[in-house]
Amino acid sequence: MLDYNKSFIEVQFPVSRISKESYKERKAGASQTLTGLGKWWGRKPLVMVRAALLGILMPVSDDYTKDRDIFLKIMTMDEEGLWLRKYKNISKKKLWQLTTEEERKKYFREGSTAKKPKYPKGMSRENKKAMKEELQRIAFNRLSYDDKLSYCRRPEDVELTDEKEWGIINDHLETNSSNLQELIKELGEKRFGHTPKVGDCFSGGGSIPFEAARMGADSFGSDLNPIAALLTWASLNIAGASDEEIEELKKYQKQVFSKVKEQISKWDLEENNIGHTPVFYLYCNETVCPECGYTVPLLPSFIIAQKSKTIVKINETDRKKYSFEINTNVSDEEFKTIDKKATISNNKLICPHCNKTTPISSIRGDKKLNGETIYGLESNNNVFNNKLYAIQYEDNNNDRYYVSPNKKVLDQEKKIKKLLSERFDEWQKKGYIPKMNIESGDKTDEPIRTRGWEYWNQLFNSRQLLINGLFSKYVDELSKTKKEYAIGILGINKISNFNSKLSRWASLREHNIDTFYNQALNPLYDYSARAMSQLNNTWNFDINNTLIKSNKKVSLKNAEEINFERDIWITDPPYADAVNYHELSEFFLAWDKKLLEKAFPEWYTGSKRVLAVKGKGQSFNKSMVNIYKNLADNMPNNGYQIVMFTHQDVKVWSILTMILWVSGLKVNSAWNISTETNSGGLKEGNYVKGTVLLVLQKQTSDDFAFQDEVYDEIQIEVQKMIDSMKGIDYKDIPDFTDADYLLASYAAALKVLTGYGEIDGIDPEYWLFEERNEENPVEKLIKKARDVANSYLIPEEFEKNHWFELSNAERFFIR
Ligand SMILES: C[S@@+](CC[C@H](N)C(=O)[O-])C[C@H]1O[C@@H](n2cnc3c(N)ncnc32)[C@H](O)[C@@H]1O
Ligand SMILES: [Zn+2]
Repeated sequence: MLDYNKSFIEVQFPVSRISKESYKERKAGASQTLTGLGKWWGRKPLVMVRAALLGILMPVSDDYTKDRDIFLKIMTMDEEGLWLRKYKNISKKKLWQLTTEEERKKYFREGSTAKKPKYPKGMSRENKKAMKEELQRIAFNRLSYDDKLSYCRRPEDVELTDEKEWGIINDHLETNSSNLQELIKELGEKRFGHTPKVGDCFSGGGSIPFEAARMGADSFGSDLNPIAALLTWASLNIAGASDEEIEELKKYQKQVFSKVKEQISKWDLEENNIGHTPVFYLYCNETVCPECGYTVPLLPSFIIAQKSKTIVKINETDRKKYSFEINTNVSDEEFKTIDKKATISNNKLICPHCNKTTPISSIRGDKKLNGETIYGLESNNNVFNNKLYAIQYEDNNNDRYYVSPNKKVLDQEKKIKKLLSERFDEWQKKGYIPKMNIESGDKTDEPIRTRGWEYWNQLFNSRQLLINGLFSKYVDELSKTKKEYAIGILGINKISNFNSKLSRWASLREHNIDTFYNQALNPLYDYSARAMSQLNNTWNFDINNTLIKSNKKVSLKNAEEINFERDIWITDPPYADAVNYHELSEFFLAWDKKLLEKAFPEWYTGSKRVLAVKGKGQSFNKSMVNIYKNLADNMPNNGYQIVMFTHQDVKVWSILTMILWVSGLKVNSAWNISTETNSGGLKEGNYVKGTVLLVLQKQTSDDFAFQDEVYDEIQIEVQKMIDSMKGIDYKDIPDFTDADYLLASYAAALKVLTGYGEIDGIDPEYWLFEERNEENPVEKLIKKARDVANSYLIPEEFEKNHWFELSNAERFFIR
């Protein structure tokens, strides 16, 4: 008996496996499917989205174990699925370790040892192949899930097509599918009467709408921010394009690149006098020491490259200035000594001439007035000049070396300034280079205050502006289709991210780092620019495409204005989030405005700071309630929502609960997926940071309860939840850790609470829409649920009395 009024994810969710898969996906870094399209902060792993959507669509039978097996099969996370995904061979030595004495006799040559295992001799090629395969399978099955994953592709990279497997799935689900897309359609039809319609109104980089569409659902994504909408659009239409289309787009990219390159060579702006091409240009700022009047290059480090022990030395010239000298392969001793030196450290200038130290704030002329800092640079930004101090070239054997600037490169720099100033006004008018001024804000104040920058173009030096501007110009001139414009704009964003005054030089990797390696705008004293040879990869970026055939739609709009129905809303709101999407995105919008207008004439091009959901407190709560009320109105009674948020303290939980409750939603279940972890990997107990998936449905009850009734119910619900989790815990990998049980107890509390229309003494509007600092009643109830869980989870070997004398923290440790 299948129950389509219930969902798999309401009952269970294999959180440990999904965490491991999510971690594997994140670890893939730049080769994750969508990250290559461009920078967006806080992208969610696709595998988690896939599991969540399947979890909603899958019905529940009376055999939970079977349900779980089928779920894992569809996700290619069961034994067969993992085997399908396995693409690396287990080494011979490892095979030996993983086999029994008996097996070794069978699969290895006599005389083999752990150090030198050998396969038997005299077998036919075919037999040998079959034997090796058999052995791989035996050994593979004995590995832990983590170890298995290291031999596997990601679930998104394989397609389950095996008839036998689909037979098992269809038998259980009473379906008739032969691939994931067909199954999703069928499950939608059974539940909603049509292909499921999925939406995300905070779509950001597009993970949710992309994965939903790729799985075969009708997909909708929207975001308030034009850069996010562009990325979402690109995920569906470019990462979702056919191979032929991608080939055409690649041609277009190449065409733009060669136009820019042609122009740069015509102007002779890169090659040095022996015909070598530059790779990176290293710049620093320089400023005048107020003590001695020397113009000092500001170098936080004199080290250029760690491996080749390359350093820059500064030498005084007769005009109270410094020239640069690059030395490679210096002695260990010299390298160590110079490693400790700098001309700027802790925001203080250390003058190499007079040895005096001056705080940068006093060079800027910052003043304190009534306890507030008045930044001195706001009207005078000639205090820090740009200075080229080293160039990395590549010779004809592809070997790279560093030199200090010679006359030719300095002439090239001069020429660049001249070329740029001749075109500056025209290019700004045409939108090829930024014109926008930097609006003050949490993150944008730093460049304004510490550098006196007023316009976005000041975040780029002349070389960067000229080159990035040329890309814009040719995108504008060569784009014919929406997709060409879009991929062109994405390219410009990638280039500006890697080619700004905020792109750091990493002496260890001998590479430059993007502006947004963190979620801020930190001006630097030394930075690097990419020459054309490096921009080649940045511009001609790889696209991981899968043809998407589903209906898909992308809008640019405020989530409060969603006005059509979806069966399922999966959202990842900017919850109490440190990421200032609206401000950071202006870095890109400054480059994209004009091109966006051409590509998407129906869109606005501002970041709409005022409308962005941000911060904490009443205004945040109000906009969240408006949005989630609206989403609840725009879904059928049997519809579902999943709200993702970062696992935080009880207070945050309680506020979110009240927001969702007031919006007319009730909690069904909650699951925690560890999406991030430290370098140790995601082993048991190594719980770091999680994304909580709250599963919600419409709240239609007008039942009323008293708080103590609610408390009693919470107690029962918590115990029920823990029992059922224990009942379906996985034997091979324990699926639930203490953190999961604790979370489940929160969820149980929320479930009971939001199941009522009204609870005596709890007025969520009072707590949400006015300034309150005291502990709210929901917080109290959640804490009670936590206590219930803690005492319910007493380890067997512990005596009850003793257990109750321990603090929660102690209990946590002991278990
Ligand atoms: C946490 S991010 C979503 C990330 C996304 N799930 C992904 O995987 O890339 C939240 C998004 O909400 C958007 N946002 C903020 N305020 C909004 C509003 N009022 N309406 C719509 N979107 C908004 C931000 O621009 C941001 O992209
Ligand atoms: Zn000095």
